[in-house]
Amino acid sequence: MSSTRIKGFADMFPPQSDMYTYMESVAREIFGRFGFVELRTPILEFTELFQRSIGQETDVVQKEMYTFADRKGRSLSLRPEATAGVMRAYMESGLSNREAVSRLFTFGPMFRYERPQKGRMRQFHQINCECLGSHSPFVDAEMLCMLWAFLHGVGLKDVELHVNSLGCPNCRPRFTQALQEYLHAFPKEALCEDCARRLASNPLRVLDCKQEGCRQITEKAPRLLDYNCPSCRTHFDKVLHLLEGHGMHPVLNHKLVRGLDYYCRTTFEVVSGNIGAQTAVAGGGRYDGLLRSLGGPDVPGIGFACGMERLSLLMGETPARHKLFCLLAMDEESRQQGWHLTQNLRLAGLAGEMLYAESGFKSLMRQAGKSGARYCLIIGPDESKQGKVVIKNMANGSQECLSQDRALHYLSTGQDTTGKDSNE
Ligand code: HAM
Repeated sequence: MSSTRIKGFADMFPPQSDMYTYMESVAREIFGRFGFVELRTPILEFTELFQRSIGQETDVVQKEMYTFADRKGRSLSLRPEATAGVMRAYMESGLSNREAVSRLFTFGPMFRYERPQKGRMRQFHQINCECLGSHSPFVDAEMLCMLWAFLHGVGLKDVELHVNSLGCPNCRPRFTQALQEYLHAFPKEALCEDCARRLASNPLRVLDCKQEGCRQITEKAPRLLDYNCPSCRTHFDKVLHLLEGHGMHPVLNHKLVRGLDYYCRTTFEVVSGNIGAQTAVAGGGRYDGLLRSLGGPDVPGIGFACGMERLSLLMGETPARHKLFCLLAMDEESRQQGWHLTQNLRLAGLAGEMLYAESGFKSLMRQAGKSGARYCLIIGPDESKQGKVVIKNMANGSQECLSQDRALHYLSTGQDTTGKDSNE
């Protein structure tokens, strides 16, 4: 069969899948400490939800969604990000009537039809957090503090936190106008094709264009912060002050605008120079008007998402899968006893495997050696007659012959019931 895997979609085996499980477990633990609970939403939503939340003029909605009609002709899309679905679920659940502030995290696959490259997939995975119900700058700082704790928790170093403030619907139009005026002063051909189009529809995106020509032009462009109204400015200064006081030193990035339309005020990205052309490991920000624009309650929000593919490129080794024992048995009666012993040890909490191949002793021992198990358990005809098992310490070669009943104690404590240490 020729390869049938879809471009940009990946199968994931250990150690990569172990790494993903590990990231999720660190996230659960840390987010839990900050009061977050897990929400699972469908991967398919009505297309309109994404158009209305992410924005009609964004690259994600214009070019990157997997959109199709269902059997009744309704337009559905695979989620390109989690926030829109979380907003829909939040509105439908009536959660805002039950709690003042909701803290929700979501893990899972997202889909964007982008050109695959290092750190960029068409199916990728996000660890996503949303905090709904508070305008407070303390919450912005808390979210960044949690994101930082998570990134450190999975062992990430050498990343920078970039921040900016996009202002609000009161002050941003003034900035957009100033930016358009500034950009119009350059010949149209000076901007790349995408930015020439964005100039009218989504001028802010010109600021984070990676093309050299556009970068040079925007070097001296007006800065969002200079156009923030006093209340947006006070909010942002408070966030910066809290972060500085907490020992985090965010980099003010005047060109950070984000690729999704729902943001206002505090926006941020965590960037690294070690993942090829894709620099952002995580991104997010405040989106105070989003729920109301979707027909929901006037509840403010802030959130972020980390890309697991990019995180995994930056992480070192994950803790190795731990296998304590590998059991091999030499004849049918021994295999039966070995099978029961293997299940009992696992049910008692020990990790290990039994080799079922009916091969010779040498070949089984070779496989046990390769398995990475700390102990090799051997049952042959002599042992099975006496209900015993040989336990061989694979690190130092020492071995004990114990009754099968005592194997559990020995393996879990490293000691015989007599108190003799197996490593002696
Ligand atoms: P985003 O910046 O579009 O934000 O994506 C967040 C992260 O997802 C990126 O920083 C990157 O690590 C990862 N990512 C995005 N696209 C790809 C891709 N094609 N392949 C691999 N990784 C990718 C959002 O999605 C917002 N919903 C975040 C948010 C939550 N804002 C508020 N709440």
